Amino acid sequence: MTATDRPLDVVILAAGQGTRMKSSLPKVLHPVAGRPMVAWAVKTAQELGARQVVVVTGHGAAQVEAALAGSGVLFARQQQQLGTGHAFLCGLDAATDHTSADVLVLYGDTPLLRVETLRDLLDDHRRRGSAFTVLTGELPDATGYGRIIRDAAGNVERIVEQKDASPLERTVREFNSGVYLMDARASELAHRITNHNASGEYYLTDLLALYRAEGDEVHAFRLADPAEVMGANDRSGLAEAEGIIRQRITGMHMRAGVTIHMPETVYIEDTVTLGRDVTLEPGVILRGQTTLADDVVVGAYSVITDSVLEAGAVVKAHSVLDGAHVGTGSDVGPFARLRPGTVLGSGVHIGNFVETKNAQLAPGVKAGHLAYLGDVTVGEETNVGAGTIVANYDGVNKHRTTVGAGVFIGSNSTLIAPRTVGDAAFIAAGSAVHDDVPEGAMAVARGKQRTIEGWSRRYWSGLREQVSAKLPWLAGWLGRQGG
Ligand code: UD1
Ligand code: CA
Repeated sequence: MTATDRPLDVVILAAGQGTRMKSSLPKVLHPVAGRPMVAWAVKTAQELGARQVVVVTGHGAAQVEAALAGSGVLFARQQQQLGTGHAFLCGLDAATDHTSADVLVLYGDTPLLRVETLRDLLDDHRRRGSAFTVLTGELPDATGYGRIIRDAAGNVERIVEQKDASPLERTVREFNSGVYLMDARASELAHRITNHNASGEYYLTDLLALYRAEGDEVHAFRLADPAEVMGANDRSGLAEAEGIIRQRITGMHMRAGVTIHMPETVYIEDTVTLGRDVTLEPGVILRGQTTLADDVVVGAYSVITDSVLEAGAVVKAHSVLDGAHVGTGSDVGPFARLRPGTVLGSGVHIGNFVETKNAQLAPGVKAGHLAYLGDVTVGEETNVGAGTIVANYDGVNKHRTTVGAGVFIGSNSTLIAPRTVGDAAFIAAGSAVHDDVPEGAMAVARGKQRTIEGWSRRYWSGLREQVSAKLPWLAGWLGRQGG
């Protein structure tokens, strides 16, 4: 078997507690840019083409395992946190047949590590015929990290932990990232790790010296940007990591032809797809399985989740879309809310303060102001007047309403579901529509207007006479009412 077609198994260490988060949520489940930290590690491992991914869990194990259920990983429970060396062995035990595989170790709390960096590490490891390669970085002050100790010839000799390091060793700037790539002897050699050190823990770092003692090729691969292995240990670290991921994503979209105004205010998850000449105004948030086709414009402070916008669609400021499909050239907002199951055909106009849910609006439908359209199908070119409500809920069940094409729904009408309104029907403003309206008909369902001549003048003058004696100021005010 050649080096390049050896399978790769990945062990992700994620059993530690992370007390600095001050949280009831396990550290590795804290989200960064829409995904728990440990899920970033899983995604990276899978993109790398891992055969098996084992996640070592301990603190909050049940929660971590539940969060990753369905992602195709294996779990190894580390009952007691006896150190990284012990955690690694727990992970290997859970992997099935690792005798011929390369093994990569990652942490569950370093979401910034890029798959490209790991590919470079893998290439370097295989090109050199290395048995063990440690990913290292260099910092002016590497306090806290394990340090890389090299021999006189510059070869990597061992890793010394901060606690165990001599004053001279503590001046070393090259630090251990905690990422290692090794051959299939890892399991055998890791069993030789002891806990005879300042912490009384089984250090995985000892594996490097164990490989070297066997006379095997041991190397270090230097990171260009040490920030990639920055672990998020507290809430500030989470925010910092999120900021870096956010910038990577907005940068990638801008390079691909998306205009982003004030990109430092725009948040796009890495599950989002954007076409060419998409324009995003400040404060836009795009989440989940969202796709924006070419030339879509999203106005300031709009939040779009799990939605598809076809070419040229425009979402104006402060709109909220969730699970919606918006057709070509439609415009939505400002201040519109499209809820799950909303499907807008092409050229639909949704104006301010319009809410839709489970609503299919055919091409050319217009709902310009203040409406609730729930559980409804509306035909082409129908005009939905301001204040229209589809009363879809009777207090127990939801009912569906169908409105035909070319219908005119007058302002402030209520369609009491389930209702059917035929094509080209006309509903008079202010109607409470409780019967179906056939095609071409007009429905008016409201109290008939009475007009009583002179009533207002008589009303106000009568009141004025009653109070003038007692409350002159009120009489003065009433004198201005009704002429
Ligand atoms: C470790 C390295 C250190 C390196 C640093 C990089 C060792 C002994 N030291 O130190 O050289 O510079 O990472 O960040 O490995 N974990 C378990 N089970 C355990 C202990 C740890 O799963 O029993 C997991 C943690 O959840 C974490 C990772 O292993 O994801 C690293 O553990 P941590 O305690 O942060 O190691 P460091 O002391 O930082
Ligand atoms: Ca750490």
